Amino acid sequence: MSLRAQVAGCGGYLPERVMTNDELARRLDTSDAWIRQRTGIGERRIAAAGELTSDLALAAAKRALRHAGISGSDLDLIVLATATPDHTFPATATKVQAQLGMKRGAAFDIQAVCSGFIFALAVADNAIRVGQARTALVIGAETFSRILDWQDRGTCVLFGDGAGALVLRAAPDAGPGGRGMLSTHLHSDGSLYDILYVDGGPSSTGTAGHLRMEGREVFRQAVHHLSEAVEEALAAHGLSGADVDWLVPHQANLRIIDAIGKRLSLRPGQTVVTIERHANTSAASIPLALDEAVGDGRIKPGHLVLMEALGGGLTWGASLVRW
Ligand code: ACO
Repeated sequence: MSLRAQVAGCGGYLPERVMTNDELARRLDTSDAWIRQRTGIGERRIAAAGELTSDLALAAAKRALRHAGISGSDLDLIVLATATPDHTFPATATKVQAQLGMKRGAAFDIQAVCSGFIFALAVADNAIRVGQARTALVIGAETFSRILDWQDRGTCVLFGDGAGALVLRAAPDAGPGGRGMLSTHLHSDGSLYDILYVDGGPSSTGTAGHLRMEGREVFRQAVHHLSEAVEEALAAHGLSGADVDWLVPHQANLRIIDAIGKRLSLRPGQTVVTIERHANTSAASIPLALDEAVGDGRIKPGHLVLMEALGGGLTWGASLVRW
């Protein structure tokens, strides 16, 4: 019997502290109007001093487990996507594993920056398909506020902190109409390493460093590659934009999100948009958006959900799931 990963639950967590555009405009040469018009961002959450990526991840994970009606001891795999781990090693996922009381299986981090959640989903989906895991927790968790250059208005206004998580469970594969992950499509192009990177790290400077980005070029690459990725995901199943119930994109820029929605001929209300309140939470943005749209009843069992993301590397990908 062939197996497939079905979504069993989701959860999200945002730190309490809200930082508005106006607050940023009081200490930088920027404005609420500029940030909203160019990006769609109105505010972002910032982790408290001492609140780590693992704390955000754990809070989101507990909510996802509760939603799925299971406990940490039921899990046999945790894949945590982050570019802002608590420490250089061990993996932040292992800390979450211990805090959830999971004593078997495996827990590890993966690093694909803003595409991290799609990459983590692919790893967990594949592990379930081959029978290596039966119940997996996929987490995207970030504290980008710790790697921003708060003097650089071109980047620091764009990001926020947060975490989201999804529980996947093995189930018999009931074909394209049945519930579960249909496929995940991953890409990277290391020749574009330098257009979005952090200027530090254990092997280079020995410091954590700060995020650096050629915004206009990343924007151009994002529209191009994400358009290709969503079409690749749909074509793999003989589907088109007309079959999609919800687009849940990585939340980097409202203009990028709108461009992909138009490319698929979706109605504006079919795209889940959180960027106004969350900003770009990197690997956490898709599971946070999923959690919001499931929580308010937009995404329902049986709906076809298309996810896409692009991040540093460059990395990009798309995934289709029948919720
Ligand atoms: N406030 C006011 N002015 C600003 C600000 C700001 N916060 N930031 C930049 N500007 C200025 C620039 O200095 C420039 O001024 P100049 O014309 O006098 O030189 C002008 O605004 C235009 O700057 P651009 O960078 O060309 O502005 P653009 O319209 O491209 O918007 C932005 C910049 C928002 C960064 C956009 O390029 C973008 O969203 N890029 C994609 C980011 C992205 O998708 N990242 C995804 C992955 S993130 C990850 O993986 C970690």
